[in-house]
Amino acid sequence: MTRLLLLLSPSSNRVYAGTAPGVVAAELQVLAEGRLGAPVRSVEPVRVAGVDYLAVELDAPDEPTGGEGYGATYAALGQLSAAHALFRRVGDDLLAPVGLPRTERLDDDLLTIPKYPGRTNEQFTRALLNVTLAATSWGDQVGRRPFTVLDPLAGRGTTLSWALALGHDAYGVELERREVEAYAAFLTTWLRRKRLKHSIGLNPLRRNGRQVAELLEAFLHPDAEAWKAGQRQHLSLFAADTLRTAELLGRRKVEAVVTDAPYGVAHGSRAGGGGRDRSPADLLAEAVPVWASVLRSGGAMGIAWNTHGLAREDLAAIVTGAGLVVRDEGPWTRLAHRVDAGIHRDVLVAHQP
Ligand SMILES: C[S@@+](CC[C@H](N)C(=O)[O-])C[C@H]1O[C@@H](n2cnc3c(N)ncnc32)[C@H](O)[C@@H]1O
Repeated sequence: MTRLLLLLSPSSNRVYAGTAPGVVAAELQVLAEGRLGAPVRSVEPVRVAGVDYLAVELDAPDEPTGGEGYGATYAALGQLSAAHALFRRVGDDLLAPVGLPRTERLDDDLLTIPKYPGRTNEQFTRALLNVTLAATSWGDQVGRRPFTVLDPLAGRGTTLSWALALGHDAYGVELERREVEAYAAFLTTWLRRKRLKHSIGLNPLRRNGRQVAELLEAFLHPDAEAWKAGQRQHLSLFAADTLRTAELLGRRKVEAVVTDAPYGVAHGSRAGGGGRDRSPADLLAEAVPVWASVLRSGGAMGIAWNTHGLAREDLAAIVTGAGLVVRDEGPWTRLAHRVDAGIHRDVLVAHQP
């Protein structure tokens, strides 16, 4: 057995209002189901010399370089949203540092510079992306090949930026033009400042001679040689109502839908074209079937939402009604946490059979 201590990012306390260890433990167990080479025997919060850690026990020999299983185990640990540093316990008194393999391909200020005015947070968004990718039929390939990720309520692009930072292709839909413009301005400056090979533009999207939306489109690659050889990561963000997602994507399907729904508190959830106001619950009831229709068979959908406006079983019924299979057991049900007095956030993950 291997005994590890995982130190969480100090900021995770702020993100999860003191509930970070429980959320990250559930995230780790979700990743462990499909991806960890060594089975996780237990995960629990501990305090050592006044510092909080997650104690992780693996059913694996106490030898960090031993065998295939270890590579996969540490790869998954390195992908955890709040993983800061990892130590192996040697006896009861000593900690041996273990390097956490990171899969980020872009500098982390792509995620840390923008400050979204709502409750979205880059660490939580990474957790949401992680558990959703883990629920796809290709969960064991995360970190080894690019995925196609859609955030159909993209806001200022936290999910999109994570997808790009981790080497994926990203699609987004966002109703508020000013959010799309803000993300376009930020990403344009960031790509230039980092001197990455790229092209980017926010332009009207025309089909059959008629403007159907505004589209922010970017192509980039972190490696100049790969860019020269024609390799590209791709981003498309449509300024439009999310109910038009299928029409806008055309025949394109995605492998993961990852979205943080409006909380019904700080920002609204208006229908496009000056239409009536929609509650987050009404929006999800209308939009989930549309999102399910653009999901490839074997793909997965992960939704974060405020349970004060919509109970978990009601969202599960909407998602099941759209033909998806909800993960409603074990760690998949332990990702809920308090954000503030008005928001209790939960995460529902389902896959397209
Ligand atoms: C919680 S925020 C998402 C935040 C996002 N993850 C980010 O990083 O900025 C929800 C977003 O949904 C958008 N939204 C609400 N109703 C919409 C609709 N019908 N179509 C498209 N976007 C919508 C809101 O404008 C808001 O930006």
